[in-house]
This record gives sequence, C-alpha cells and structure tokens, in this order.
Amino acid sequence: MCGIVGYVGMRSAQDVVIEGLRRLEYRGYDSAGIALVDHGTIASDKKSGKLANLEKAIEESPLPASTIGIGHTRWATHGAPTDRNAHPHLGREQRLALVHNGIIENFAEIRAELEAESHELLSETDTEVAAHLIERELDKGVDLTVAMQAACRQMEGAFTLVAVDSQDPDRVVAARRNSPLVVGLGEGENFLGSDVAAFIEHTREALELGQDQVVTITRDGVAVSTFDGEPAEGTRYHVDWDLSAAEKDGHDWFMRKEIFEQPRAVADSLLGRRDASGRLQLDEVRLSDEDLREIDKVIVIACGTSFYAGMVAKYAIEHWCRVPVEVELASEFRYRDPILTQRTLVVAISQSGETADTLQAIRHARSQGSKVLAICNTNGSTIPRESDAVIYTHAGPEIGVASTKGFLTQLVACYLLGLYFAQVKGTRFGDEINQIMDQLEEMPAHIDTVLSHADEVYAMAKEYLGTPSVLFLGRHAGYPVALEGALKLKELAYIHAEGFAAGELKHGPIALVDNGLPIWCIVPPRGRDQLHEKMVSGIQEVRARGARTICLAEEGDTAIEPYADVLIRLPKVPVLLQPLVATVPLQLFACELATLMGHDVDMPRNLAKSVTVE
Ligand code: G6P
Repeated sequence: MCGIVGYVGMRSAQDVVIEGLRRLEYRGYDSAGIALVDHGTIASDKKSGKLANLEKAIEESPLPASTIGIGHTRWATHGAPTDRNAHPHLGREQRLALVHNGIIENFAEIRAELEAESHELLSETDTEVAAHLIERELDKGVDLTVAMQAACRQMEGAFTLVAVDSQDPDRVVAARRNSPLVVGLGEGENFLGSDVAAFIEHTREALELGQDQVVTITRDGVAVSTFDGEPAEGTRYHVDWDLSAAEKDGHDWFMRKEIFEQPRAVADSLLGRRDASGRLQLDEVRLSDEDLREIDKVIVIACGTSFYAGMVAKYAIEHWCRVPVEVELASEFRYRDPILTQRTLVVAISQSGETADTLQAIRHARSQGSKVLAICNTNGSTIPRESDAVIYTHAGPEIGVASTKGFLTQLVACYLLGLYFAQVKGTRFGDEINQIMDQLEEMPAHIDTVLSHADEVYAMAKEYLGTPSVLFLGRHAGYPVALEGALKLKELAYIHAEGFAAGELKHGPIALVDNGLPIWCIVPPRGRDQLHEKMVSGIQEVRARGARTICLAEEGDTAIEPYADVLIRLPKVPVLLQPLVATVPLQLFACELATLMGHDVDMPRNLAKSVTVE
C-alpha cells in the first residue's frame, strides 16, 4: 500500500512531488524516491527510511529543475526496505523511470524472460521487472502511453504504475488494475496520486479511474484508455474534504478507514499465492518441503489480537494437516519451559514485527533448535528478520492502534500456511486446497457485503451507549472472534467486555447474565456437527435470563430468529473461514460506540501500537 505521486505542469515538480509524498506518507514509510525528466535524461534519487532521508539527500546533492516528475513512498512487499529496492526503478537503458503500488503476480515469469534476454535486474522487486518491460516496449518505437498499455496486457495481479520517459518531457503515464489511482485536474498542470491527499492543496477537481485503465497526463490534457488502447473515460468529481479527512479517505478515524479497507487488504494478502498449475506457492517460506514434512508439532505464539488469529490457526491447521497445534501467549511462553525440538515449528504472529514478548519467545525457540515462521505485516521488521521463514500479510500500514485489517490478513496468512502445509504433507488433495482457495478469494466480496450493513451496527451502538458491560459468545472458530470482539470494546470504549466459549456458559459465566445485558452471539454456520444447534440452545438459556441477544448468523438461518433480539446477517461461508466476516460487525460496533463516547479511537488511552518492552 505505497503512496504514489505524478506531476506535469509549470511549477517545480520536485516541490509538488515531495509535498505530495509528505501527504501520503501514512501509506508507507519504508523508503521514498523521486524521478524528474531533465533534458533527455532521468534525474532520480531514493533513500530507505522516511521521506526526511530523501529530503536530506536532495538538499546535499540537488536535483536539476524540472516541471515533470514522479515520486513514491514505499510499504515494502517484494524485497526488504533498502535503498536498492526503493522506487523509482529505471529501465535497462535508464530511459524510463517507474513507481508502483501493488503486487505483480507473474513477475517471476517476466523476470526469467527478461533475464534470458540479458536484462540485468538490480533489485529484488517486481517493480524493476515492470520498468524493464515497459522500456522494452518503448524500444519498439511507440510512445509511453502505447508502451504502458502493451506492458499492462502482460502483467497479472494488482498494480498502480506511474512512469516518465526521458525522451518525452510532456507526459506522465499511469495505469491501474485493482489498486488505487486518482487524477487531479489543474489549469496548465495535472496531477496523479494514490489518493486525493497527494494534490488537494493544488486542486479539488479529480478524476477517478476505472479498472484496467491507462491515463496520460500532459500540461493541457488528460486522456484515458483501456489496456487495449481503446478510448475510455474516468469519473469526474469535486473533493470537498479537508486534508485530514482526505488522508482518512473521508472517514473520521484511521481505524474506520482501515475497517473499510479490509476487502482490499484481504484480496492483497491472497495475491500471487498460486502458481500457473494452481499449486500454492509461498515464496517467502524459506523452509524446505523436507523440513516441513518432519514437523510433528506447531506452537503459535503471539500477543493481543494476533493471539486470537493464532487460535483460529489452530482450528485450521489441525483440521487440514492433522498436526497438533498449541497456541500460547508470547509473554508466558518461555517461562514455562516449553517442550521444543527440531521437529517443532513455532509460528510467531505479529502485525508490527516488533513486539518484545513475541521477539523474546522466538529467540528462545530458536535457541532450542526449533524453526520459526513469522506471520507479519511489516517488511524488514525484527521478528521476520530473526525468523527462518515469513509470510507477509500485505495489509499496508495500520495506523489505528486497535488492529483491524491487520487481524483479518493474519487470518488469511494462517489459512495459507495451513493449506500450504497440507499440500506439502499430502494431507489434503490439490483440488480440495484449490476449492478452499477459491472460497478465500470470494471473501473480499463477502466482507464488502457485511460492510454495506454498517449503519445497522451503528444504530445499535447508539442504543447501547451507556451500557456498563457486554458479553460475546462463540464456538469453534467463532470463539476467538468473541474474544476479539471483547478486546476491541475494552480497547476503545473502556467498558467491561468478555468473550466466552458458548459451551462454557453453564460452567460459570451464566451467573453474570442479568436483565438487559447485551450479549453478542456468533452463531456457527449450520452443518453436520451440531455446533449450530448447541449454540442456539446457549442463546435460549441467556435470553431466558433476561439478556438481550445480538446474533450474527448466516443468511437463511431461520432457527435463530425466535431467539435474536437483533439479528445481523452474515454471508454463507464455511465455519473455518467465518471469522473473516463475523469479526467485522464487532469492529464497527466498538469503533462507533467509542466515537459516540467521545474517545480518541485511533489512540486509545494507555495503549501503544507496538509494545517494544516486555
Ligand atoms: C499491542 C497492540 C495490539 C496488538 C498487540 C500485538 O498491544 O495495542 O493491538 O494486537 O500489541 O501486536 P503485534 O504487532 O505483535 O501484532
């Protein structure tokens, strides 16, 4: 989820681009770079770390004056956050400069093709591959627009690309597929940005591009086409947000924006995971198949929300792989002298990759000879660096302290790990794995459906304003969802909230139930295993004692209707994948209730996004 800027006009392109990058830095801050067209050459600079590093470099070694340029602030996906992997990337002859947001799924194939033609690639990024590819098209004697269209037809995945050609000082060309890009329309100048924050101080007239479109901006015009070169149109609109709202995509909080970004984040976390033959490939897993086949126990360690993702991983991995899985709070792990061998795989889940408890736990595991696989959102952070393997979640930066899209993409990574492990161990057939992958690929649309009912959840939050306590009940994979729902409410609304395994109710928690107590019930999908029926009985029991039941149940589940004071429908999905949809209303509820209570949702009291002390 990088930030991208493009400019052509009459002002200093450097100033416009750097200012735009500053506005987009919330989208990523692993590195920053700029490229300007200067009398037939490309002048560029890029530096790892925050934008300030690039600004310092430019101050020390100024770039030539230019009125056309592109810039990038990176959230690393392919390749560590180094100077070399920073954007822009140049083509073979350094004629073209390119910045990119997204993941080019077939980049390994294109890279092999280019290397066979003696292209020397200097970075580990998929972006450099695209730069060489577009420049190869330019070499055929076409202009940058045509070259971009031709290259886009060869690429798969999600990408926003913005390029300049040193031989053409009048145009910036961009393309988008499944990744954001907007055009800012000026007078004698035009802009490109990942979102309107990039140019809102210069113009409020914007053009939203459609899927699979290429746009060419010049000083006097904007031309949109399809990847096939057919003329096309964007949608013009006026931006009336202030800058802070623009950064939050019009939402009041980063957290709310991140909740609504989840369909996109989940889709990104699934990109590029299957090869052409349909087999799962996790290219960041540096454990050999032999190593994985030897594994006889998995221990998942994590803290907070990540711990609940680990609980879901247990259900999935044990079911698909028939390997025992323990889930352990990272802060408790090494103090109980855990049994670790070379055949133990420790899975460390951490959004930030910097949580001290988790880090110390993996150090302990490795010192005992166990292999560690990290599931992490932050490329180049300490936990993946110190692990034997890593699956990145590709959620993009999460700014709200309470994790939302971080959690959903961790779930996806856990499913991917379970399926990959099943593929290697042969505990599931390829077509079963493919079927589950197809179901996972439908999840972004299902999450969208849940989000389209946000207003119903908000209305309920209003109704429960002032409630001192809320309970959450779940079973199976819905149990960690109940715990996560309660955690969100504690973190944001500062009220008593507890999650229970519904079967445990009768062993104690039912004593808490009193007249009017709101209880969220995550109802499992109907299936062969009686889970659903048992949950319905539990709901009847609490309702008989005066609780108000807010039930999350799948479409078509009529059995729940008589016992639900409020019924929120979930799309029909398999029980193991249900956390991906069932968590969303709970996030919305906590966010809205805290907002109504006047709390700072993005920075709740006493909490830190990343806890780097034990
Ligand atoms: C902090 C955050 C939580 C987060 C936990 C684990 O406590 O406030 O939201 O779940 O750390 O963080 P990690 O980055 O390791 O996933």
